[in-house]
Amino acid sequence: MVVTSLGMLIIVLPLSLLVRHKPEHYGYRPDGEVSKSLEEVNHVYTWLLENHFERRSTIIALGGGVVGDMSGFIAATFLRGINLIQVPTTLLAQVDSSIGGKVGINHALGKNLIGAFYQPRMVLADVDFFKTLPREEFICGMGEVIKYGILGSKPLFEILENHLPEILQKDKDLLSRIVFDCAQIKAKIVEEDERELGIRAHLNLGHTFGHALETFYKSETLKHGQAVLLGMRCAIWASLQLKVLEEESARRMDRLIRQVGVRLPGQKKMDPPSLIAIMKRDKKVKDGRINLVLPAGIGQVTIRPVSDEALLQASFESLQD
Ligand SMILES: NC(=O)c1ccc[n+]([C@@H]2O[C@H](COP(=O)([O-])OP(=O)(O)OC[C@H]3O[C@@H](n4cnc5c(N)ncnc54)[C@H](O)[C@@H]3O)[C@@H](O)[C@H]2O)c1
Ligand SMILES: [Zn+2]
Repeated sequence: MVVTSLGMLIIVLPLSLLVRHKPEHYGYRPDGEVSKSLEEVNHVYTWLLENHFERRSTIIALGGGVVGDMSGFIAATFLRGINLIQVPTTLLAQVDSSIGGKVGINHALGKNLIGAFYQPRMVLADVDFFKTLPREEFICGMGEVIKYGILGSKPLFEILENHLPEILQKDKDLLSRIVFDCAQIKAKIVEEDERELGIRAHLNLGHTFGHALETFYKSETLKHGQAVLLGMRCAIWASLQLKVLEEESARRMDRLIRQVGVRLPGQKKMDPPSLIAIMKRDKKVKDGRINLVLPAGIGQVTIRPVSDEALLQASFESLQD
């Protein structure tokens, strides 16, 4: 942690490069999901109190989504709320988690169960951070980027379709444009529906199938963004069967996602009935009907309640093609 001359707090928790070089200065804290805990949050509360932080202090969340969610939760609760600035350093955090005000931590019984809606004063995104970002983390962010193209912007989708190899090589100009477009799409949806009572649910495209895959394979073998990419392929397939989506658009979407190159983990055989059982445990399922976000065209989605288990099963099986 660093205190600037302006009295601001900079939390540099899991940025492993910095931590590795100066552990005694920053104080080593664990990397990844484990730090989104009440125990870690309490550690920071104590540090803030011992160092006399007050209502006008600002927390700058410099890091990926883990740092953003956790620092945001601290900002929302410390002294009933202090200023928050998000400086996201992963692709996923720049296009998704730093925008929209959902902040929170995990509980032993589930992820992101303790939290708040708390908007940052500012989000500062710089694509230069991606220079050091491992390829696997970058691909995870691409899951959310493609999601925005499919759900809200034909021009964005076409940029992705026409320039995927350069984007995967981290071309700075293309990435600046893409991060800006995604952030704008998310901000617009959140402005309309901050508390997820309506249109914000569109952001769950690929996530209902994706969460089931993530839980089935465990997050060590299938990361969130990878699961979302596969989950979107299932949603596209289901949408085609339900005639919500026409064939040409489905083919273009599926081809773009396949080009990113994420596959089902080989070590465990996929079991659709178990996946459906996991889907039904989702807190968003009502009366056995699963509300699926389905692509309706490039740049458009719709929500359909689905109870046809054969269709859900076949959607998962389509991943084996
Ligand atoms: N609040 C929301 O709306 C929202 C939305 C989506 C996801 N999330 C949350 O976000 C989290 C995932 O975020 P994430 O994908 O950014 O993962 P992360 O924060 O764990 O970061 C991934 C890894 O990259 C490292 N890292 C970060 N920036 C780097 C850089 N520039 N160079 C090199 N290494 C870097 C981190 O230390 C970490 O090891 C999850 O906890 C998820 O629940 C929240
Ligand atoms: Zn996601």
